[in-house]
Amino acid sequence: MGKLARFGVAMDEDLLGKFDELVARRGSGANRSEAVRDLVRDALVDEQWEAPDEEIVGTITMVFDHHANDLAEKLDSLQHAHHDKVVSSMHVHLDAHNCLEVIVVRGASGQIRTIAEALLGTKGVKHGKLVTTTTGRHL
Ligand code: NI
Repeated sequence: MGKLARFGVAMDEDLLGKFDELVARRGSGANRSEAVRDLVRDALVDEQWEAPDEEIVGTITMVFDHHANDLAEKLDSLQHAHHDKVVSSMHVHLDAHNCLEVIVVRGASGQIRTIAEALLGTKGVKHGKLVTTTTGRHL
């Protein structure tokens, strides 16, 4: 972390009021400065994801019925096809039918998006999401 720098921000009072409410909802210990830093980091990570060749990290979370037409096998094959981008995965048997899988992925953002779309777009996946984060190196 670099040296702390201070700067003033001019903002509409109503907007600032809403921002303070947001900070208050985050609980004790939260303050404007920390909230602004979080927003800036968020924006920087989002920007990294926009650059297709940037190395990024994410998680793909999905829920599916493993009985549905070879779905478990299809999802497994897709992960094997991209084994160099799949860092780790966790499988939870939610009940007799439903499975939850969380896959940690790392690689160029464009390729990670493609893998996530293929997995989440597989017929039978009930719900899923790609959560985009960062290697942390540039923050
Ligand atoms: Ni299962």
